[in-house]
Amino acid sequence: MQSMDRDIDHILVTQAQLQQKVEELGAQISRDYAGRQLLLVSILKGSVVFMADLMRAVTIPCAIDFMVVSSYGGANTESTGLVKIVKDLDADLTGKDVLIVEDILDTGITLSHLMPVLQLRNPNSVRLCTILSKPSRRKAQIEPDYLGFEVPDEFVVGYGLDYDETYRNLPYVGVLKPEIYNA
Ligand code: IMP
Ligand code: MG
Repeated sequence: MQSMDRDIDHILVTQAQLQQKVEELGAQISRDYAGRQLLLVSILKGSVVFMADLMRAVTIPCAIDFMVVSSYGGANTESTGLVKIVKDLDADLTGKDVLIVEDILDTGITLSHLMPVLQLRNPNSVRLCTILSKPSRRKAQIEPDYLGFEVPDEFVVGYGLDYDETYRNLPYVGVLKPEIYNA
């Protein structure tokens, strides 16, 4: 049987660390959004694992919705800077407190384009929760309101993040061996 683990050079965030942090974020969000109309917006596909965990760590009533935006194509590991809404939300944002759930804030280009678009739809608020951030890569002026872990400028996979659509189901966050993407 083929193993994904042997393609990983080293682990950056363990499964236990992720679980612990998601519990903390869920508790914090539940306190901050108590009594409000919380809408969790998952940006597909990378945030699907984090979303599934985070929504169960949130203890107040909330709705969920999904959106597809394109920024990275195929096996590319560099941002193209191009952001397009491929699948829009179903929800009406009027009066909602929108919390965007993302896998990683890298250059920030994707979300710096997306957040103003959502702001125009009359929500009560739009904020950002991301499980990972690469601060050294930032190009746009945007920072997460809720953050899991800062990671160095390395290409990471697992916990929803992919390389060429693979490794999303790894339960931890790791760095791929260079020979995998240089092959
Ligand atoms: P940004 O616009 O550069 O912030 O792009 C963010 C998106 O790029 C994330 O939602 C990921 O889908 C993808 N991305 C950025 N860095 C990585 C990485 O190290 N591994 C996998 N995907 C990444
Ligand atoms: Mg993504």
